[in-house]
Amino acid sequence: MCKRGLLLLVLNLLGMVVAEPQVPCLFIFGDSLSDNGNNNNLATLAKSNYQPYGIDFPDGPTGRFCNGRTAVDFIAQFLGFDHFIPPFANITGRDILSGVNYASGGSGIRDETGANLGQHISLSMQVVNFHATVEQLKIVLGSKTSVADYLSKCLYSVNIGVNDYANNYFIPEYYSTSRLYTPEQFATVLIQQYSEQLKIMYNYGARKVALMGLFQYGCVPLDLAQNNGACNSTVNSAIDLFNAKLPSLVDDLNKILDGAKFTFVNNTAISNDIGMNGQAYGFTVANAACCSVLTGVETCRIHGSTCQNRSEYVFWDQAHPTEAFHLINAKGMYNSSSSSSYTYPVNIQQLAQL
Ligand SMILES: *[C@@H]1O[C@H](CO)[C@@H](O)[C@H](O)[C@H]1NC(C)=O
Ligand SMILES: *[C@@H]1O[C@H](CO)[C@@H](O)[C@H](O)[C@H]1NC(C)=O
Ligand SMILES: *[C@@H]1O[C@H](CO)[C@@H](O)[C@H](O)[C@H]1NC(C)=O
Ligand SMILES: *[C@@H]1O[C@H](CO)[C@@H](O)[C@H](O)[C@H]1NC(C)=O
Ligand SMILES: *[C@@H]1O[C@H](CO)[C@@H](O)[C@H](O)[C@H]1NC(C)=O
Repeated sequence: MCKRGLLLLVLNLLGMVVAEPQVPCLFIFGDSLSDNGNNNNLATLAKSNYQPYGIDFPDGPTGRFCNGRTAVDFIAQFLGFDHFIPPFANITGRDILSGVNYASGGSGIRDETGANLGQHISLSMQVVNFHATVEQLKIVLGSKTSVADYLSKCLYSVNIGVNDYANNYFIPEYYSTSRLYTPEQFATVLIQQYSEQLKIMYNYGARKVALMGLFQYGCVPLDLAQNNGACNSTVNSAIDLFNAKLPSLVDDLNKILDGAKFTFVNNTAISNDIGMNGQAYGFTVANAACCSVLTGVETCRIHGSTCQNRSEYVFWDQAHPTEAFHLINAKGMYNSSSSSSYTYPVNIQQLAQL
């Protein structure tokens, strides 16, 4: 009997109830908002496996771009997993049965996105890595049909695209996209490429997929500092064009792909509400990083200091939210009522149960 089986048996003998998670596995695709260690051994500036990152995480710095848990960590907990979903870079043996995190800081829908920072695992590479997992699952579970059945019950979180703006379109000295496309055309080509990648994921077995809308990158402390404390509306309105196309992408995929259950999460709506009701959630600072930073740099200074009360800050560094924000965000994604504009057509808890 495997170690985990033995543990479950012992707990059962002790009369403790070990609840199964609502879905057998969770697969995570994305960028630094979801990365939990995949960039640790890559040559890139998009790294966070050093202090003070992870100051509120049980294992310390892991490669999460946060002081503690991220939204996908909370989603895993809400779904009833007793552990966090491991990073693809660090996966061993039967770990894959409960899912894998493929997310990579700096990456985007376009392959070249993030190259200004160094190496990264683009969404298309993440999908290739997912394929490798599916092939391994065939060995673990035995047959192709049992794998298809298994994967159809799992949940898939995809949160990507903000770097296609922050680390591509809006860096004209490095990338030509802003000369090739208007913001409207760029949103269209991104959605087309995204749609193709999602169809490949579907072909490998993904069915219950949550597509996370992009947050307003023009309001991160890095951008605020460059604009006398105001959000960068050029950046936000370009991102809005992309977000606006996600609900119809969800509708299209659900229509053309048999058995597909895509849903859209409106992170702008959730963070607008937090912005408007910040005090109610305990936030007092929304315009500055909690950790010590250098001017113009997104990430925390290595071994730098942090603010006193991290749960009062929206932002942990100059581009990524605190655990406190991720928690409110995750609750909104997971548990929003149908009358809110947070999710379309279903929230994550409903998606899990479909
Ligand atoms: C990778 O696995 C090792 C051994 O299980 C563990 O100690 C380490 O924390 C893991 N790293 C990440 C980023 O999960
Ligand atoms: C907004 O961001 C764009 C792209 O980085 C930049 O060119 C522009 O100067 C910024 N605007 C302001 C007001 O900071
Ligand atoms: C997301 O929510 C905001 C605020 O409620 C709304 O203005 C926007 O249209 C929504 N976006 C989409 C794509 O539904
Ligand atoms: C930190 O901030 C939270 C939210 O405002 C508050 O509930 C908590 O009491 C504060 N903790 C300390 C030690 O000040
Ligand atoms: C979801 O909502 C229900 C009912 O409002 C509540 O009991 C539960 O704690 C919520 N779960 C999370 C993770 O917020």
